[in-house]
Amino acid sequence: MNIIVAKDYKEMSQAASQMIEEQITKKPDAVLGLATGGTPLGTYKELIRSYKEGRADYRFLSTINLDEYVGLDPEHHQSYRYFMNQNFFQFINIDKKNTYIPYGKTEGLEQECRRYEEVIDTVGPPDLQLLGIGENGHIGFNEPGTSFDSETHIVHLTHSTREANARFFESMEDVPTKAITMGIRSIMKSKKIILLASGERKADAICQLIHGEPDEQFPASSLKNHDDLTLIVDEDAYKKVQRKG
Ligand code: F6R
Repeated sequence: MNIIVAKDYKEMSQAASQMIEEQITKKPDAVLGLATGGTPLGTYKELIRSYKEGRADYRFLSTINLDEYVGLDPEHHQSYRYFMNQNFFQFINIDKKNTYIPYGKTEGLEQECRRYEEVIDTVGPPDLQLLGIGENGHIGFNEPGTSFDSETHIVHLTHSTREANARFFESMEDVPTKAITMGIRSIMKSKKIILLASGERKADAICQLIHGEPDEQFPASSLKNHDDLTLIVDEDAYKKVQRKG
């Protein structure tokens, strides 16, 4: 595991975008695995800037996102499809048909899970997967207790995850109760993984990730079995590790 400790959120985002830019330069038709949430927003901003400065070309690139809420239309302002379009895709020259996100509005959820895993296997697996981490160690929507053998599947969101995401919805009742997510095994298929964490809120999770053993009760610990994992964390998220070490 490589660990990069950045000064703050901005430096963390710059370090991540630089690694992604190098990947695109090395392989213009690379496949990027992408995440939503607050953590990668700064990385997307940096990537948009580098695109505008002519340092990256997304024409031949494909992206595969980790997850999507069940029941939200892609046009819904809280859907992850909408998030990706608004915060990244609309600003770069990527062909939208090469951007993959699970479709959560379908009746055939099991079929959608199988279709998506096939996308991962045929379009992907990603050359580089970008991840955030939940305070309880979740990655994607894989909550504690998820099997390390899981592929794309439906999850019932825990109260704490729904609460953490409630800030984006008008009320707690509007927060979806289910999601489609790439499983742990699907994520592990990626050739390279970058996990980002910023802020004190993530300090316990980062401490456990670095010091703990792989354990299904802490989904991110599965990544310790990956042979090309880079953590990019800021000083606040790394605080507890330093104290212990
Ligand atoms: C998002 C995702 C989630 C987030 C995690 C952290 O696609 O898969 O696992 O990465 O919940 O969220 P933030 O970045 O908002 O703290």
